[in-house]
Amino acid sequence: MTGLAGRHVTFGEADMADHLDRLGRAAPDLHACVDPERARAWARLAEADDFKDDFGADGAGGRGSSYIRAQARNLTARAQGIHHLLSLVPARTDRRPAVVVDVLGGDGLVRRVADARGLTGLSVLTCDASPYMVRAAWAAHCPALVQRADRLLMRGGSVDAVLVAYGSHHIAAEDRAELVHEAYRVLRPGGVLLLHDFLVGSPMETWFQDVVDPYSRTGHAFDHFTREEMGGYLTKAGFESGEVTEMADPYVATAATAREAELELGRYLLDMYGLAAIERRHAADAARHTVELAKSVFRERRADGSLESFSAAYDPSARSWTCTLPRTAVLAIGRKSP
Ligand SMILES: C[S@@+](CC[C@H](N)C(=O)[O-])C[C@H]1O[C@@H](n2cnc3c(N)ncnc32)[C@H](O)[C@@H]1O
Repeated sequence: MTGLAGRHVTFGEADMADHLDRLGRAAPDLHACVDPERARAWARLAEADDFKDDFGADGAGGRGSSYIRAQARNLTARAQGIHHLLSLVPARTDRRPAVVVDVLGGDGLVRRVADARGLTGLSVLTCDASPYMVRAAWAAHCPALVQRADRLLMRGGSVDAVLVAYGSHHIAAEDRAELVHEAYRVLRPGGVLLLHDFLVGSPMETWFQDVVDPYSRTGHAFDHFTREEMGGYLTKAGFESGEVTEMADPYVATAATAREAELELGRYLLDMYGLAAIERRHAADAARHTVELAKSVFRERRADGSLESFSAAYDPSARSWTCTLPRTAVLAIGRKSP
């Protein structure tokens, strides 16, 4: 690594050469999808790039370390949504693993959930604009690449799925159309783009505005998506078919007692969103306070008018309690013609 300058990332050509070398040794199928010229050219420009790395190191003002801690502590917290997204990746006719480019891959959570759930027909390349997160992904044995969402480094027609999930609102509105264009370019015929986020006006937006923005280390002022916006990107990029739909994407925690499971959820949210001001103000009671806040925000109106909210269920066979905060994500699926 060339180094980090404040929350702005410095990543250069030599760093990219190292990553590609490592990728070639660890995952030749994924390495074959990368266009080395594109990667080198982008890395040259990246030295002057002004990407603000909210998921960088603590010392550089980021909240990457607590984010990583949250996922390590509870690998299954968002596994239901991740599993659903991966179930939409089409199987290849040649029976080789389908290549999934996880564009906002962080430290490789999606790949690790796929492994934990035994989803064998997939080969996931974890990508991220944050060198800190990419280093963490490699440390967790996930093949990874530094790449910006709007500048994909893959060869045209080389991958089976482009997944943009769990952070699409971080992509600046002016870069979103280019991202979807790029996704279309790198997909093979028959491939899919899965663009996942949360709707303007959703409980998730309330959570980000009322809790994460004021209380996290980094703030969180980003624009969420509308269905029309997502559908418009698919059409403009040339996707031959597609749809904009919704999916259940809850936060879940399991423990021996209902109280412990609830506190696990609180702990997860505190770490995932780096809610440092809540930690400071509520000290030992921070997890309890956070889960109570989350219970008041994550309430979903069902189609029949009833309200879905926080729940706790006992599983007698596992002798454990599972607490769930309901959450609904919006998903644009773009399909490239076979
Ligand atoms: C909320 S994290 C999601 C990580 C992982 N997928 C997960 O679910 O745990 C969002 C990630 O997107 C990355 N990111 C934000 N903007 C990006 C961009 N324009 N291009 C590529 N990565 C970006 C961040 O560095 C961060 O690691």
